[in-house]
Amino acid sequence: MHSSEIFASIGAIAVAALAIKAASAIVVHLLPSNLQRYAHVSADGRPPWALVTGASDGIGRALADELSLQGFNVVLHGRNQAKLDVAKSELQKRHPGRAFRTLIADASTVQCVNCLQAGETPSQHSLSFDAIKDALQDLHLTVLINNAGGGPTNPVYLSLDDSSESRITGNVSVNVLFPLHLIRVLLPHLAQSSPALIMNISSMADAGFPLLASYSASKQFLMTLTRVINLEIALLGRADIECLGIRVGNVTSVSHNKEAPSFFTPSADIMARAALDRAGHGHVVVTGYWAHALQQAGLTLMPSFMANKVMINAVRVRKEAELKSS
Ligand SMILES: NC(=O)c1ccc[n+]([C@@H]2O[C@H](COP(=O)([O-])OP(=O)(O)OC[C@H]3O[C@@H](n4cnc5c(N)ncnc54)[C@H](OP(=O)(O)O)[C@@H]3O)[C@@H](O)[C@H]2O)c1
Repeated sequence: MHSSEIFASIGAIAVAALAIKAASAIVVHLLPSNLQRYAHVSADGRPPWALVTGASDGIGRALADELSLQGFNVVLHGRNQAKLDVAKSELQKRHPGRAFRTLIADASTVQCVNCLQAGETPSQHSLSFDAIKDALQDLHLTVLINNAGGGPTNPVYLSLDDSSESRITGNVSVNVLFPLHLIRVLLPHLAQSSPALIMNISSMADAGFPLLASYSASKQFLMTLTRVINLEIALLGRADIECLGIRVGNVTSVSHNKEAPSFFTPSADIMARAALDRAGHGHVVVTGYWAHALQQAGLTLMPSFMANKVMINAVRVRKEAELKSS
């Protein structure tokens, strides 16, 4: 074989691999919703329940709405009882045939149990995962959505060395420790109710955006956790539990963005539906909304020096806008 033929073969293989990748990325968004596989009644006749964290606003609230439409009762988690009560009564009006509960826990306060001195016990006010587990014990829980999260605010964009310890620790607590421990304590419950779904909401910023260190890195943690849980379930021959990571790009009708939706910025309702439509197909980590997937593909296909420039410029523009508005 001539060297030119070898190069041509390598090129053809590379093009074929790219074509397969592109085709499978498109298929993800064409498959019909299979969420109904988790909307089953228990053997003793109890209806399916979903727990949505961060359900008082934005995408979480829209997820709760869509889940109710699709036959689930919903536990609405948040940190603000008054805000959750409003969400609950609006959802109850829209879905009179469904049941709703609220669950209060400030996800930014996961306690460092290793920091307790000998003889000290966690304070009675600290977040207790065992209490959360017990509060859900009577439900036929088939869906857990780890949605609560986001980046630090005031300001949003800040270098790591300018960030305070509490800013970083609180942010990692919401985005990493809370979902990690919630999955830990609820896995046996979900296994009992299987087939069951764990959905982890991440961000396209998990690629690693500057001035968003704790947010970017913690969202990437969540996606690695998603992969690990799927592999552990397979390795240990556990019950039928799907763990699905959803990458999200810009979304509007959320607490910090009320602009009109646009091509690359869907409303929270559209995003929630897109995320739920990805369930039930055995994907592990996907970009939930098709236009975000286009953006993601653009970044992935670019040479990394170019992708880095795009990310740096995007953050620079936003940082400048943030400085101006403050
Ligand atoms: N919107 C976007 O453009 C975008 C882009 C990429 C990824 N995402 C991801 O999508 C998810 C939802 O974001 P969103 O834009 O819908 O946010 P959002 O409108 O601000 O809603 C966030 C929800 O999480 C709750 N929450 C926040 N901190 C909490 C805490 N410490 N303890 C308990 N609950 C807490 C909020 O409760 P309160 O109502 O009490 O604040 C609210 O219910 C997040 O994981 C975010 O990272 C969003």
